[in-house]
Amino acid sequence: MQTELVREDQSRSPEQRLRPQRSRTDCPILLSPRLVLRAPHEDDIDALAHLANNANIATMVSRMPHPYTAKDAADFVRRSKAGEIGKCVYAITRMDNGAFLGCCGVEPHADEKTVELGYWLGEPYWGHGYMSEAALPVRDHAFAQGGHALLYSGCRLSNNGSRRILEKIGFARIGLGHIFSRACGMNVPVHRFLLTRERWEGLRS
Ligand SMILES: CC(C)(COP(=O)(O)OP(=O)(O)OC[C@H]1O[C@@H](n2cnc3c(N)ncnc32)[C@H](O)[C@@H]1OP(=O)(O)O)[C@@H](O)C(=O)NCCC(=O)NCCS
Repeated sequence: MQTELVREDQSRSPEQRLRPQRSRTDCPILLSPRLVLRAPHEDDIDALAHLANNANIATMVSRMPHPYTAKDAADFVRRSKAGEIGKCVYAITRMDNGAFLGCCGVEPHADEKTVELGYWLGEPYWGHGYMSEAALPVRDHAFAQGGHALLYSGCRLSNNGSRRILEKIGFARIGLGHIFSRACGMNVPVHRFLLTRERWEGLRS
């Protein structure tokens, strides 16, 4: 982990290193017991392209292309650095060895009251509690950092793992909806979930 963080920092001039990157000032590195959540960078491209090229992931999220190429991964890193994707996009990495596991992030809705939580993990890393662990600091940061009243998320009807994560971190199901799935090439039904600031404050206390 240390090596990766140092490498990221070394790409900046000594003056820049003293200041946070402007596009990331509201997106600090987040820690959980086993994970470091930090900005995606160029060293992630190979692992990102390898893990994300998986229909079992692409068909569960809305905008991931499938197949997923190294160019898609490089574009993702560039656009997330430029602040073109979401508000805070995080690479989920293991604290002990720096391995890239997947991504998560939040994206504001047009109403400016709501931010949407999204995430995916490479299939070899499923079932170890990593996303339950990663989602918590992202949830907390989304409320602590902004004036957002609501955190929204959704998952496909068959996605019991994601549904369980949302329930575990305090979301309540509010009904059914549809999202356009790029990998499926059509609208697909989803469970819609919401966590209010009031409920989040209750969970924290
Ligand atoms: C969904 C996903 C993020 C889960 O990540 P994960 O790290 O494997 O999840 P966790 O290990 O933290 O497990 C979360 C909970 O769901 C349960 N769970 C996990 N997979 C499950 C499944 N297929 N069916 C039922 N429950 C499941 C776990 O038992 C755990 O519940 P518990 O703590 O009560 O035991 C991962 O499978 C993934 O990236 N899938 C593809 C992309 C995706 O679905 N993204 C979310 C879009 S809404």
